[in-house]
Amino acid sequence: MNRSVTILPGDGIGPEVAAQAARALSAAAGRFNVEIDLSSALIGGAAIDAENAPLPERTLALCEKADAIFLGAVGGPQWANVPVDLRPEQGLLDLRRALGLFANLRPAVTYPELAEASPLRPEKLSGVDIIIVRELTGGIYFGKRGRTPTAAFDTCEYTVTEIERVCRVAGRLAQSRRGKVTSVDKANVLDTSRLWRETATRVFADEFPEIELEHLYVDAAAMHLLARPADFDIMVMDNMFGDILTDEASMLAGSLGLLPSASIGENTLGLYEPIHGSAPDIAGEDKANPIGAILSMAMMLRYSLELAEAADLIDTAVHACLKSGLRTADLGADAGTRVLGTTAFGDAVLAEIDSAT
Ligand code: IPM
Ligand code: MG
Repeated sequence: MNRSVTILPGDGIGPEVAAQAARALSAAAGRFNVEIDLSSALIGGAAIDAENAPLPERTLALCEKADAIFLGAVGGPQWANVPVDLRPEQGLLDLRRALGLFANLRPAVTYPELAEASPLRPEKLSGVDIIIVRELTGGIYFGKRGRTPTAAFDTCEYTVTEIERVCRVAGRLAQSRRGKVTSVDKANVLDTSRLWRETATRVFADEFPEIELEHLYVDAAAMHLLARPADFDIMVMDNMFGDILTDEASMLAGSLGLLPSASIGENTLGLYEPIHGSAPDIAGEDKANPIGAILSMAMMLRYSLELAEAADLIDTAVHACLKSGLRTADLGADAGTRVLGTTAFGDAVLAEIDSAT
């Protein structure tokens, strides 16, 4: 059976990494005789320029009828001064919300081959395998906001229902892994965090009694992520804390360019994107690391397309490239490694997928 996937290349390096990711997706699914029908639509700055809206209706309609969606990246300095509702980022936020994608899964794993790329000492990195579950459609990102010439405000609100459902995603993931969840909040200061902690405690006690639940304040969590990263299994947190701590967690792997993500809701439709931004400074230069994008397609195969074996194929292909010394510029070069451009790295992943037995 064919699957339909909408690709939203977006801005900056988005189109470059999306192209490599789409090739890997089609090749991996093809190995299992599944054809991927790809369609493409505008989002972010590219959509503002063409249609004066960061999420045109046509784009949303195409996303709604797909089996899964991939997004490259949005944003760039040329849209820094457009009105706030017209910013490229607003297109992505509106899409997450319109599709009800309330849970964002961001795995941070370390590859032994890349230990040198991380600023942390190698002995800290061994065995790091974390999935951060970030609440994605609530909190300060979506609260009331406003400004006058001399003041501004953003508000953070959470409902019990919003906290419960994202905790359940974390709990179910932990059941298939090491059985540990760390819930991150700022319950010593914020009311939303006190509600978060109470709700998490209740959901885990009632529904996941076998899971070990730990609570950390976000400032301490930022520190513990560097001090004892291998201790974490699943982490769950609100939208803003998740945005910040996942960029931090990418340094465990070695580069922001390595991390994939999956945004999921109540049904199988999901949005898959690398966690990196549009990197306007290197856009169009064939220098971007396509790994986060390619691994996002593996997550798509696993969570939305029910093709877990094809997902494994992509994961293994990327790892094989790293093992054989292939790198992109952000990962740094040393003796025995070869730095490739975006397309050439995509070629190498494709060759691994095609030759896998
Ligand atoms: C991310 C990004 C987005 C976010 C931006 C582009 C709106 O930083 O996906 O982490 O803050 O959610
Ligand atoms: Mg971010």
